[in-house]
This record gives sequence, C-alpha cells and structure tokens, in this order.
Amino acid sequence: MTLLLSPSMMCADFKNLASDVKQLNEAGVDMYHMDIMDGQYVPNFGLSPEDYQTIRDLTDKPMDAHLMIKNPRQYIKFFAELGTNLVYFCPDAEQQPARTIDDIHAAGMKAGIAVNTGTSFESVKELLPNIDYVLVMTVHPGFAGQPFQDFVMPKLNQFIAAKKQYGYVLGIDGAVSREKIMELHKAGVDNFILGTSALFGKDEDYMTIISDIRKEND
Ligand code: DX5
Ligand code: ZN
Repeated sequence: MTLLLSPSMMCADFKNLASDVKQLNEAGVDMYHMDIMDGQYVPNFGLSPEDYQTIRDLTDKPMDAHLMIKNPRQYIKFFAELGTNLVYFCPDAEQQPARTIDDIHAAGMKAGIAVNTGTSFESVKELLPNIDYVLVMTVHPGFAGQPFQDFVMPKLNQFIAAKKQYGYVLGIDGAVSREKIMELHKAGVDNFILGTSALFGKDEDYMTIISDIRKEND
C-alpha cells in the first residue's frame, strides 16, 4: 500500500524556510503541499507566488498546488510555469470542471480534485475517470489547526471504495494526526497532508517524525 507524506508548507517556519525545506528533503517527504487561497473562495490567503518560487528553487521533489480560489482554470498556466507537478482544484469553483481537468493535463501536470466538506461524492463522480488524485478535505478549507470533521467519514469511505475502479491516488487534508494516518492508511488512504497535527511545531525534528510515521504504517 502506497504511503505518501506531503508537508503542508503554509505551516512551515517562514523565519527559517530554507532550513525547513532542507530538513524535509532529507527526511524523505514525498510531495510539497502548497495551499493557495484568494480571500474570496475561502476567507484566507495561504501561500504567495513568491513563497511558491522560493520552495521550488529549494527542492527537486514534486510540488502540488491546492487551489482554494475562484476560477482556478484561469491560473493553470501560471502554476505550470511555477513548476507545479499536480494541481488540485475545487470542482464547485468551476462551471465546467471536466474541462479544467483536460486543461491541467494539457499543461503537462497531474490533475486532482479537492473535495470540500460540503461537496458530495455523487456530485464529482463523473470526474473520477479522468482524475489522477483525489483530496478529501477533513477540515473546512482555508485554515490550518482546525478540528477533524468526522461527518466526512462516510464520504471518504465512498472514495476508498471507488479507488480500485478509477485508479486515483486518494489523500486527506486537514487535522491529519499520526493516529488518523494509522487508522486511515489501513482503510485505503494513500496520501496524507501533514500540517500542525502531525509534523510542524513539534519537539522532534522532521527526520524523526517522518521516519516514525513510516515505521508506524509499515
Ligand atoms: C487547510 C489546508 C491544509 C492545512 C492543514 O485549508 O488545505 O493543508 O494547512 O493543516 P492542519 O494539518 O494543521 O489542519
Ligand atoms: Zn491543503
């Protein structure tokens, strides 16, 4: 079973960003998770294009872009030029989400959907044949440090069940603790966005935490 560990960089130590990225690279994280917000679609701003470029220049590892913005289709080329490898957009932020997936692929990136707490499995089912990654939000989008929203669990189980048929990489984003990783990796979740619950602001260093998480889920 795949175990992907993706640090949520809006939670990083921006006073020591280069050192944080160096330690995360050495700790063997799989993909950098980059929360992009416009203050409209969600009431917050996340990371800037400058933050994105800075981190891009510090690592060869894949980077995603979690677009919590209106009209994400307008920014696909922008993120491709920033060196993004995978774009997650929110289908409810688009008039024609199936076309957005085609545009992301045409720009040479992997396509993902971020399924917000209020978005149903049924409402995005038609997108699943063409999507590479699904990210089920386990908090309301826009802020780190929020509580896990247990009411999304039946929906997460629907995406776990559908994974075999469509072959997407399934992840969760928000309040992902080490206990949640152990519980949900066994259940069939592949990719875990690590923010303040599991990785940042802890006493142990990133290398120790990442290697312990891998051991706990071996
Ligand atoms: C929230 C973001 C998450 C968040 C995760 O909108 O998508 O990536 O930063 O942080 P924690 O793990 O603290 O919820
Ligand atoms: Zn995110």
